[in-house]
Amino acid sequence: MEVIIRPDADEACTLVADLIAGEIRNNPKLVVGLATGRTMERVYSLLVKKYKKGHVDFAHVTTFNLDEYIGLALDHPNSFHAYMDDHLFRHVNIHSERTHIPNGEAKDLEGECLAYEETIRGCGGIDLQLLGIGQTGHIGFNEPISALRSRTRTKALTPQTLKQNAHLFDDPDAMPRRAITMGVGTILDSKRCVLLATGEKKAAIVAKAVEGPVTSMISASALQLHPRCTVVVDEEAAGCLENTEYYRWLFENEPEWERFRR
Ligand code: GLP
Repeated sequence: MEVIIRPDADEACTLVADLIAGEIRNNPKLVVGLATGRTMERVYSLLVKKYKKGHVDFAHVTTFNLDEYIGLALDHPNSFHAYMDDHLFRHVNIHSERTHIPNGEAKDLEGECLAYEETIRGCGGIDLQLLGIGQTGHIGFNEPISALRSRTRTKALTPQTLKQNAHLFDDPDAMPRRAITMGVGTILDSKRCVLLATGEKKAAIVAKAVEGPVTSMISASALQLHPRCTVVVDEEAAGCLENTEYYRWLFENEPEWERFRR
């Protein structure tokens, strides 16, 4: 794991967008795992700008989203299907048949989860998994006590997660209580993970996930086991980290980050 601390949210999102675009340029057929939430909105906006300037081409990219609510119409404004269309897919030249989001309206939810895993395997696995982190420390919707080798499955959302995301719904009571999520094991099978967190509200949970024990109570802590995981934070979200001197030294001295040093 490595931790990259950037001055502010804009610089953190810019670094992640630059990293994703660079990986796509290196491998035009990249299989990318995508996340949703407020944090990712800026990243997708930057990727759309890069596409419009001809700096990145999505024509052969395949995507898999981490999660989707259960029981929400796929065209509901709060569905992750709608989120991805609004923030990325309809603005770039990605082919819809190469975009995959769990179908929260499937009649056979278990079959949907198994098929999702099979489709990921059929694409050769995920090359680059983008992750946010929820206040409960979840990645995707792997809520506390999620098995750290879990696969794509349905999960009940915690009251804290419902509260964190309820503001997005006109009628908070209409917010789904369950979701389909890639499992922690599914995420750990990706070739590379990039977790992005910004803002002081994420500082405590980022520190627990990065510097605390690996525990199913904080599914993001399982990323400590991933062979290639980069955590990108702004100064606010780095506020509770202990080893910041080393993280800053790493960024200033590791060749990989040369092109990002401004
Ligand atoms: C939801 C998503 C997560 C996301 C989290 C953080 O719970 N399932 O994938 O990381 O929200 O959202 P935000 O970026 O709005 O804090």
